[in-house]
Amino acid sequence: MASESNAMILAQMAQTTLISRAQIDARIAEMGREISAEFEGSELIALCVLKGAVFFLTDLVRAMSMDVALDFIQVSSYGNQKYSSGVVTILKEPQLDMHGKSVLIVEDIIDSGLSMREVHRYIESRGAAKVKTATFLDKPKARKVEFQADYVGFSIDPMFVIGYGLDFAEKYRNIPEVQVLSE
Ligand code: PRP
Repeated sequence: MASESNAMILAQMAQTTLISRAQIDARIAEMGREISAEFEGSELIALCVLKGAVFFLTDLVRAMSMDVALDFIQVSSYGNQKYSSGVVTILKEPQLDMHGKSVLIVEDIIDSGLSMREVHRYIESRGAAKVKTATFLDKPKARKVEFQADYVGFSIDPMFVIGYGLDFAEKYRNIPEVQVLSE
């Protein structure tokens, strides 16, 4: 829940559309086709990185033309602190056996790259035969460690975005489009 000081800040913020719902739908339809073409015939697990990616996950798998199992992982949030150490704590572990399977890690956004790098390493250590990554948004200019996702919905400049799963103090996740939050 947003604190009182957050509520005061929010009252002064402007929200402007960056990526519309129609643009999101069109891009995810393309991604669903591309991902299905790559994984058709294999046993695929779509692994959602909680919490923000749940919106992208559910739209993406419904845009795919193949069967896909779902699993979930949650890693520590940096909050307002951004550590360069790359230490990421697993808060919730996936449940499915990944040995010999294909795993598509599904993120809402890659910023510093720390979370995705650690999740990728962790899933490889669980014996997956193939690990690929899909992110709804990518901020390549914000990287602290190198990481390139296999599938990127939209590449954006560093700016504070909300909606379609992305939050500010747990608010705004259910806005159906991507907006820029600015003063
Ligand atoms: C956000 C986002 C990614 C991560 C990206 O998660 O969902 O997991 O930060 O940042 P990075 O590339 O700098 O590691 P957050 O911890 O805010 O959790 P949430 O999805 O529950 O909002």
